[in-house]
Amino acid sequence: MKILVTGGLGFIGSHTVVELQNVGFDVVVIDDLSNSSLDVLNGIEAITGKKPDFEKIDLREKQAVKDFFVKYTDVTGVIHFAASKAVGESVENPLLYYENNIGSLVYLLQELQKKQESHFIFSSSCTVYGQAEKMPITEEAPIQGAMSPYGNTKQIGEEIIKDVAKVSGINSVLLRYFNPVGAHPSVNIGELPLGVPLNLVPFITQTAIGIREQLSVFGSDYQTTDGTCVRDYIHVVDLAKAHVTALQRLIDKKNAEKVEVFNLGTGTGNSVLEVINAFEKVSGQKLNYKIVDRRAGDVTEAYADTTKANNILGWKAELSLDDALASAWKWEQKVRGK
Ligand code: UD1
Repeated sequence: MKILVTGGLGFIGSHTVVELQNVGFDVVVIDDLSNSSLDVLNGIEAITGKKPDFEKIDLREKQAVKDFFVKYTDVTGVIHFAASKAVGESVENPLLYYENNIGSLVYLLQELQKKQESHFIFSSSCTVYGQAEKMPITEEAPIQGAMSPYGNTKQIGEEIIKDVAKVSGINSVLLRYFNPVGAHPSVNIGELPLGVPLNLVPFITQTAIGIREQLSVFGSDYQTTDGTCVRDYIHVVDLAKAHVTALQRLIDKKNAEKVEVFNLGTGTGNSVLEVINAFEKVSGQKLNYKIVDRRAGDVTEAYADTTKANNILGWKAELSLDDALASAWKWEQKVRGK
C-alpha cells in the first residue's frame, strides 16, 4: 500500500514523511511548492535514506487530482496537510482559503470515495474550540464560531469528512493540533516560513539570529500567571509520529467510529514569557523583546487534554519544550549558515 502525503514538503508534512518512511511505508508526496521547496526532498533522503515519490500538483485542479489517482491506483491511505494557514491572509482573501482548503479536500474525497475502502487523516486545529471555557481542552469541548475564514475551513473540512464517511468506505481521523514547533533533531528538515513569521517560535529564532530586530510580545494583561497568553507547544516530531499511529489504527481497523477525533498536544500550557525564558536558557542567547498591545483574535489560553490520544490512540508526546526550542534554534543557525 502506498501512502499519499499532500503538502508533504511543508513543515509538519515533511516530518510526517520521515516518520512514515522510518517504519517502512512507501510514500508519494503531492505539493504545489507554493510555500515549500524541492530541497526538502533531499532533507528527507538524508534522514531516511530514501526520497519519496513526488508529484507537483495544485489540488485545486480537479483533473490533475483525477489523473494522480489513475497513475497511483495503489494509494488507499491519504494524510492531507496541503492547505493555506495564515489567519490574517484568510481575512483579506477568504475565497482563496475556501478554494484552497475546501476545494482540494472535496476533490481528494471524490477520488477516495470511488474505492471500496480508504484511510484519510485530516490536519485540523485547536482553533475549532475558540476560547474554550475549560482547560485543559477535551475533544468534547464545544466547537465555537470560527474567528477567521482559515479557522472556518478547518471546521467545514471536519463536517465534510463526517458527511462523506456516512456514504462511503472512507475511514478518517481528524487530528486537532495545538501549537507545532521545533525541527527534526538532525536539522535536515525544519520550518521555513515565507517572509516575516507570524508564529512565535520562528519569530524568536529569527530575532536571535539577527534577521528581526525585536520580538513583540502581544499583550501582558491576560488572566494568566504572568499576563501573557498560554499555548500548548508540541514538538513537530511527536506530532508527526501521531499521524503514523493514526494511520496504522485505520489500516488495522481498530477505529471505533468511521470518523475519530483526537487532540494532539503535550497537555501542558506555557506562557509567551515562559517560552522566551526557555529559549534563552537552551540557546544561551539574550532575546530582544518588548511587550506591546494584544493581537486581535488571540485567545487567552489553549492547552490540550491528551487523555483520549494517550489512552485510545496510544500516542503520547515525548519531547519537551526545551527539546523543541533547541532544535528550532539549531535549524535556524543551519539555515542561515551560522
Ligand atoms: C495561530 C492561529 C491558529 C493557527 C496557527 C497555525 C491565530 C489567532 N491563531 O495560532 O489558528 O492554527 O497559528 O500556525 O492567529 N506571539 C507573540 N509575538 C509574536 C507571535 C506570537 O507574542 O510575534 C504570541 C501570540 O500572541 C500567542 C502565542 O505567541 O499567544 C502563539 O502565537 P502563534 O505562534 O501565532 O500561534 P497561535 O496564535 O496560537
